[in-house]
Amino acid sequence: MAENFPRAFVCGFPVAHSRSPLIHNHWLRAYGIAGSYERREVAPETFPEFIRTVREEGFAGCNVTIPHKEAAFSLLEQKDESAEAIGAANTLWFEDGRLCGSNTDAYGFAANLDERAPGWDRGGVATVLGAGGAARAIVHALQTRGFRDIRIVNRTVWRAEELCHHFRGGTSAHGWEAMAELLADTSLLVNTTSLGMDGGSSYDLPLDPLPEKAVVTDIVYIPLETPLLKAAAQRGLTTVDGLGMLLHQAVPGFERWFGRRPEVTEDLRALVIEDM
Ligand code: ATR
Repeated sequence: MAENFPRAFVCGFPVAHSRSPLIHNHWLRAYGIAGSYERREVAPETFPEFIRTVREEGFAGCNVTIPHKEAAFSLLEQKDESAEAIGAANTLWFEDGRLCGSNTDAYGFAANLDERAPGWDRGGVATVLGAGGAARAIVHALQTRGFRDIRIVNRTVWRAEELCHHFRGGTSAHGWEAMAELLADTSLLVNTTSLGMDGGSSYDLPLDPLPEKAVVTDIVYIPLETPLLKAAAQRGLTTVDGLGMLLHQAVPGFERWFGRRPEVTEDLRALVIEDM
């Protein structure tokens, strides 16, 4: 017998590390909603067929994580402005039989900063470390929030140049050696690279030139206090860890599939930290 409560899931390859089930099942319990949220491991070559099957099985939708975000985007029959701008989708749903999608990473990034560092978008000058998929979502969020001078710094400069080309005006590409000069008038510094993740390879950033009012954030959240955030805190700067971005990016999907806008609470944050 078909279940008539809303069902959703996260798919990735691998997917065991995903904290999305923990987050969504916490909200389902907290709001007493009869629904389910599962985890599905899907190999890249079977992803399009998998999405077709899911539609027939009556799922409300799903989250998509690495490496499927670009493939999901290419399958969309309807996309919102964030998916369009970023060229990748992480939240899918079905509407009148059509596959629809959004990219909620940009929303999650901005919502986390709104909560933890109100006024973070006032300065309008951002330096973004990294030029991969994650940086795309961040640059889109920054443009949406009115940043008109976004410096993209990457080890491989041509990738930063490609990103600038994609986003057009208000962005510039740089190598790491330009950092000290770029930081002198930076109001927001964002790390989108995997540097510092899992306590892995670190980096030596000259944070001294950053103005006193600068906000420093890292989208890496394991460890919560990355080497970058530690160095920034030692300098007395406002720092924001990346866990809130993960929690907030889940909000729009939950609301769409399960019909209630969930709250990002300290309880939820503590639950995820306990699981790390
Ligand atoms: P994601 O989609 O998560 O952004 P990605 O596309 O692999 O992942 O991008 C990873 C980013 O981290 C890139 O900007 C990468 O720099 P390169 O483009 O030069 O590879 C950056 N990165 C990873 N390891 C790095 C390292 N050891 N030093 C400097 N940058 C690094």
